[in-house]
Amino acid sequence: MKKGEARLRVFPGPAEVARAAAAELLRRGRHAVRQRGAFDVALSGGSTPVALYEALASGSAARSGLWRHVHVFWGDERVVPPEDPASNYGTAWKAGLRRLRLSADHVHRVRGETADARQAAVLYENELRSRFAGAVWPRFDLVLLGLGADGHTASLFPGSDALEEKERWTAAAEEGDPPRPRVTLTLPVLNSAAAVLFLVAGSAKAEALAALLSPDPQDAVPARRVRPPRGEVMVFADRAAAARLPDGP
Ligand code: 6PG
Repeated sequence: MKKGEARLRVFPGPAEVARAAAAELLRRGRHAVRQRGAFDVALSGGSTPVALYEALASGSAARSGLWRHVHVFWGDERVVPPEDPASNYGTAWKAGLRRLRLSADHVHRVRGETADARQAAVLYENELRSRFAGAVWPRFDLVLLGLGADGHTASLFPGSDALEEKERWTAAAEEGDPPRPRVTLTLPVLNSAAAVLFLVAGSAKAEALAALLSPDPQDAVPARRVRPPRGEVMVFADRAAAARLPDGP
């Protein structure tokens, strides 16, 4: 993904990245609700967005009437019960989502407690298809994504079958360090989004971020393949993650 195709904003540190991401999510949420009475967002897993979920729950916006019009999904999930510390849903819920005035039936988590990842992926696809009934591909107003040091995003890892899935909306994967069963949105779903926001923080991500934004081909970086033809890509990074960019942080 050439830098010109992504809007990069660099912030001093992870706290500023989180605050800016919260403001961006709220801005887009209010706009979507004004336009069509709803806001469909897919949240990211991992640790980077925890500060974002805390920020959303800490301000007055937590009590906003906006939330009852918001449908929350996840870009990926580990196949574990929600109370497991590895659960992306559980992490986001505890970090702040539980304090937002979301409607219970608008929280669309992956049933990580399902024994089999493939079955969990099928159940999640059914949930998506009931929300986006009749759509060829679901169009999220906003998809939040992280970036792994290896260039993965969601649970789309280099060389994985899930990364090459062209038909289904979800896929099961056995990936990560250590490898674990996961469910992920597929690339066509990510590329149907109206907007994608990568949150990238820390020096460990500097090489992956440079690869993500490099004008040169970097085929082995799954996150570069997130290029919604009818959507925009934003990257919010902190200075440490931006350290390897040509024009620096
Ligand atoms: C997951 C995430 C994954 C994550 C990146 C970055 O379930 O692991 O969805 O894609 O976003 O690995 O993770 P950190 O934010 O913890 O660095």
